[in-house]
Amino acid sequence: MSDVDWDGLRDRAVEAATHAYAPYSNYPVGVAALVDDGRLLQGCNVENAAYGVGLCAECGLVSQLHLTGGGRLTHVVCVNGKGDVIMPCGRCRQLLWENGGPTMLLWTVSGVKPMSEVLPDAFGPDDLA
Ligand code: THU
Repeated sequence: MSDVDWDGLRDRAVEAATHAYAPYSNYPVGVAALVDDGRLLQGCNVENAAYGVGLCAECGLVSQLHLTGGGRLTHVVCVNGKGDVIMPCGRCRQLLWENGGPTMLLWTVSGVKPMSEVLPDAFGPDDLA
């Protein structure tokens, strides 16, 4: 797919999913990402008895991004507990757009795609300028 070790990145997402706290949906999710300085970040979903305030795996990922020095996400893959590649939900596509922009590459269910195809005509920071 490119010079990036996508399979290795997916392995880190699978590992992240083992840390998920998903007792309500029983649907663990893991995400792994590369940052433009070479860092590798992970996230897992963390649910809550108040269902609506559960955190998607991407929320943890983006928090880690900022906590560990910021930068831009360049390559991202999300998986479920079976290791299948899954699509980020709508809200999380927006999170990825904010932190990776149109050129960030996502391993989707139909191959690696730039965010410009995953969230076309996105609303984003430029709209507020
Ligand atoms: N989930 C994520 O963590 N990321 C997504 O992009 C899709 C959904 C989580 C939320 C919830 O804990 C579980 O998957 C079932 O929806």
